[in-house]
Amino acid sequence: MFQLLPALSLLSTSVYRDTPGYVDPADNGGASLAYLLSPTYPPGQREPLNIIISGKSDPAVLEDQINNGGLKNYFLSLNFSTNCFSAKDVTAVQVANLGDGNGDRNQTEVMRYNFGNADNGACTEVIDGGNHFRYWRQNGSDANTGAVFIASSYEFPLDKSHDIVPNGYNLGRDYIVGNITKSTVPTLDLTQDGARYSGATSYGGYTYNTTINYVSGLLSNTSIGINHNATVEIPGVTNAVDGLVAVFEVSITGRPDGTTASPANSRSMSASATTSGGSEDGTPTTYAPSLAFMYTITGMILTIALGQQGW
Ligand SMILES: *[C@@H]1O[C@H](CO)[C@@H](O)[C@H](O)[C@H]1NC(C)=O
Ligand SMILES: *[C@@H]1O[C@H](CO)[C@@H](O)[C@H](O)[C@H]1NC(C)=O
Ligand SMILES: *[C@@H]1O[C@H](CO)[C@@H](O)[C@H](O)[C@H]1NC(C)=O
Ligand SMILES: *[C@@H]1O[C@H](CO)[C@@H](O)[C@H](O)[C@H]1NC(C)=O
Ligand SMILES: *[C@@H]1O[C@H](CO)[C@@H](O)[C@H](O)[C@H]1NC(C)=O
Ligand SMILES: *[C@@H]1O[C@H](CO)[C@@H](O)[C@H](O)[C@H]1NC(C)=O
Ligand SMILES: *[C@@H]1O[C@H](CO)[C@@H](O)[C@H](O)[C@H]1NC(C)=O
Repeated sequence: MFQLLPALSLLSTSVYRDTPGYVDPADNGGASLAYLLSPTYPPGQREPLNIIISGKSDPAVLEDQINNGGLKNYFLSLNFSTNCFSAKDVTAVQVANLGDGNGDRNQTEVMRYNFGNADNGACTEVIDGGNHFRYWRQNGSDANTGAVFIASSYEFPLDKSHDIVPNGYNLGRDYIVGNITKSTVPTLDLTQDGARYSGATSYGGYTYNTTINYVSGLLSNTSIGINHNATVEIPGVTNAVDGLVAVFEVSITGRPDGTTASPANSRSMSASATTSGGSEDGTPTTYAPSLAFMYTITGMILTIALGQQGW
């Protein structure tokens, strides 16, 4: 029995490795496009799911939690925080069907670029604009890959009603990749052939290695039917959606002293032999209660001022 266990885990790992770590939502009635619950013009415009965190990533990263190096801690390593305090309540809800048998599901959460300030930087993004994303987990019983599907876009400031900047879907994706690799992704020169990158990020004592593989076939290279398409496409230069999805495979290559990988993490533990360096230490900073209070008040004022506006 004891000798069987390693054999069994080897078997499940090798089955896992043969798949890309996600299932194309369109294979089973879904789509790599989210729709909005609020009205669009024309009606029914959608937004691209342009990043996937593959189910082949470290199982700890695929857990939607901040502890144990989980997804929220990984997002913090990318300088993305949960929404700005009470402003969360009025963030527009988007819906996606990942073809996993769960049907239409509201976004799990919205994450906002925090400019390196984990505590309240997301409020800066709400006011000044910037990168943000919604995400969904492919965890229904028909395709329980554990993959995380992300719809990223770069938005204008609040006083421009949070419209998406020109090329803002493709750029939202590529700024995240560029932040991981510390070098600008040549968005307008990407081809269907599939660029590959990798980089290290860290937060809270955890270091992550993300390998990135651009894939085509999940999204169309088009502006038709895409939300804000008239202003996001750059005529003659790029469609609102260039048809590429950046697939991330994330491993944990460093963890705080005294913590260990869970037994399920055998694949990522072997990857930790190739540890990389050169990442910032993302130790959480503390902030004074008065500042927290100020941001809460700001959030409340925003909440009242904005009503159901789509941000
Ligand atoms: C999805 O979000 C909408 C808008 O907030 C809400 O009315 C609805 O109840 C949510 N659906 C589920 C299943 O949570
Ligand atoms: C996060 O922000 C900090 C502070 O600006 C910066 O030093 C770091 O490189 C950023 N990390 C990523 C992954 O962009
Ligand atoms: C799937 O993920 C969502 C979002 O994190 C979660 O609410 C739900 O419980 C998960 N479903 C299962 C079966 O784990
Ligand atoms: C990092 O992200 C920020 C915010 O989205 C963006 O302004 C910047 O250009 C990105 N850096 C790279 C190298 O892509
Ligand atoms: C998308 O299509 C346009 C033509 O409409 C083309 O110029 C561009 O290279 C394509 N982009 C990719 C990533 O294939
Ligand atoms: C991440 O891991 C891959 C595969 O092991 C490796 O090729 C790459 O060099 C690593 N990247 C970094 C930045 O450590
Ligand atoms: C935007 O999408 C609609 C379809 O929903 C289409 O009729 C319109 O031509 C598109 N606009 C652009 C600029 O592509």
